Amino acid sequence: MNADACVPEIEIAGVTKQYGNAQTVLESIDLIVAKQEFLGIIGPSGCGKSTILKLIAGLAIPNSGTIRVDGMTPQNARETISFVFQDATLLPWRTVKENIGLGLELERIPKNRRENEIAALLELVGLKNVARAYPRELSGGMKMRVSIARALATNPRLMLLDEPFAALDEMSRDHLNEEILRLRAEQNWTAVFVTHSVSEAVFLSDRIVVLAPNPGRIHAEFRVELPAPRTSAIRNSREFDAIVARVSHTLRETLRP
Ligand SMILES: Nc1ncnc2c1ncn2[C@@H]1O[C@H](COP(=O)(O)OP(=O)(O)O)[C@@H](O)[C@H]1O
Ligand SMILES: [Mg+2]
Repeated sequence: MNADACVPEIEIAGVTKQYGNAQTVLESIDLIVAKQEFLGIIGPSGCGKSTILKLIAGLAIPNSGTIRVDGMTPQNARETISFVFQDATLLPWRTVKENIGLGLELERIPKNRRENEIAALLELVGLKNVARAYPRELSGGMKMRVSIARALATNPRLMLLDEPFAALDEMSRDHLNEEILRLRAEQNWTAVFVTHSVSEAVFLSDRIVVLAPNPGRIHAEFRVELPAPRTSAIRNSREFDAIVARVSHTLRETLRP
């Protein structure tokens, strides 16, 4: 193993964030994410979950403290990071294929190679038969798949996902959760996944961080020791229910004054 393998994917130390003169959004955040770890972040709305992702991506700057991604500043690590937003944010005038290929075009990948990569991604996310459709013709679940395929196209080492399935019905969400784990197993990226759903966090994560609000801070951490690979059957197990109950209880604690 080379020395590189010991560098964590993300190191956040003593980070505080305030937008302008408003109330402090995040206070003294210390967080280390290992390479290939799947970290879930959960917490009440407004506690700074999206802000943490933006800080990691270099889209927001901390007021104090340091952030390293693969040993680099977030700005220098940008090429290795993909961000999946809550809304699929697809370009309505582009087809599914063209939306997925956007990042590859921006990187000036030649057309042949681009076509091959898009074909592989369409296969991976199960969208081959709608390659030429426009976003308005797709269901919410399909749009999120396009958005995920677009994020994967640039071959990220780190995927930041901000409540990507919040708008979906439970069945589509469960299904996409399983897909995300399958993709992760194939591609070995590290993930930081923000969600409102305790069961989603438990199903996906190796570890869950619970944030408390006003100011946003880390309230508790859980390691999720469920057997791998995680299949839909795990959701019906007693261990799964037990972890969900513990995390839910802790989440309710953060809402007490
Ligand atoms: N660009 C911004 N400018 C000013 N305030 C912001 C900005 N982004 C977020 N905030 C504020 O920071 C707080 C945390 O926001 P956010 O990180 O989006 O929380 P969460 O994702 O947990 O709901 C909220 O009070 C929000 O209004
Ligand atoms: Mg948010």
